Amino acid sequence: MSTIEKHIKFDVEAIRKEFPILNRQVNGKPLIYFDNAATSQTPQQVIDVIVDYYSNYNANIHRGVHTLSQEATDAYEQARIKIQKHFNAKHTHEIIYTSGTTHGINLVASGFSSLLQKGDEVIVSGLEHHSNIVPWQMLCERTGVTLKVIPMNQNGELVLDDYDSLLNKKTKLVFVNHISNALGTINPIEYIIKKAHSVGAAVLVDGAQSCPHIKPDVQALDVDFYVCSAHKICGPTGVGMLYGKQEWLKKLPPYQGGGEMIAEVSFEKTTYADLPHKFEAGTPNVSGGIAFGAALDYMNSIGFDTIANYENELLVYATKQLENIEGLKIYGTAKEKTSVISFNVGNIHPYDIGTILDKMGIAVRTGHHCAQPIMDFYQIPGTIRASFMFYNTKAEIDTFITALKKAVMMLS
Ligand code: ALA
Repeated sequence: MSTIEKHIKFDVEAIRKEFPILNRQVNGKPLIYFDNAATSQTPQQVIDVIVDYYSNYNANIHRGVHTLSQEATDAYEQARIKIQKHFNAKHTHEIIYTSGTTHGINLVASGFSSLLQKGDEVIVSGLEHHSNIVPWQMLCERTGVTLKVIPMNQNGELVLDDYDSLLNKKTKLVFVNHISNALGTINPIEYIIKKAHSVGAAVLVDGAQSCPHIKPDVQALDVDFYVCSAHKICGPTGVGMLYGKQEWLKKLPPYQGGGEMIAEVSFEKTTYADLPHKFEAGTPNVSGGIAFGAALDYMNSIGFDTIANYENELLVYATKQLENIEGLKIYGTAKEKTSVISFNVGNIHPYDIGTILDKMGIAVRTGHHCAQPIMDFYQIPGTIRASFMFYNTKAEIDTFITALKKAVMMLS
């Protein structure tokens, strides 16, 4: 069966064969990988792209007239075009390569230091990962700008009436994730963006958790900045992208100085390169960028509607079984959510359950998931988090439920 046929029919067993890591054993048991919200696994065709790069055309880009440098430059820039098309950006130069979501947010937060002043206000959602909180707090410390927070409710949804009342003429920026990493809530970003624009504020959306499940259209969303990481989308670690509307990227100053980002340098004055290079100082992660493009090709060959439907089936299936376990509480029961389930069982510490599950070959994440304000809201130290991708199966969920019941029995 060809790759396309496998994907059209959505043959999960055939798809699993494309991920070499899914064959391995952990502690003598077949690996069950349910830590996809932390990082996704990589299919052979993306691994092959990295091997091909280092085997055949490893070179520095944009700097050489020699063949290898030109081949590497072409592949890297072709990947940028793939990323542009995937996110439907208007211009290729609106796609800035970054080392990942955190880098993209810091780039924008640092740049806004020179555009904001004391008395201005910025708004963060109560559902954020630390990487979409701390850079903005640092911005507020530098500038005297006030940080306001959209509260969440017990279901793990943002309280939109409160958001509406936080917005005013002083609001300059709103930053919110598309999907919460800790709870799986899908936030109503269309509404959030529209409302922010009605008072003249810009919006940054952290797409780290949405990009594996949804194909965002940045023009239809009319979002000002959108950031994500390749490693959550079946690509490599250490590379990601920042989409920014051209007019904003032109206004923001460079983030880092160095090679590649300049037009002319003298000791008297330096002028900067045009977009996107103004924000891409130094030798980038060339193989990573190329593999990012390959990962998007891979995901698109399956299709994001197919992915979302199948993952939703896994979510519903696992949620039903978890709800039947005595003493188990799920955190994050939003109407709109993705395939992430955060939970605790009675007073058992999440680490203890996570450790026993690992002994049975099952990888889940335990802890505060870099989202301490959410844990504080629920007054818990952390949760156990199972997060599914399209290569997971209902049979794996059955094994996980049996293992979890065993762990609970051992620890009660
Ligand atoms: N932000 C990643 C997670 O939620 C690491 O696990």
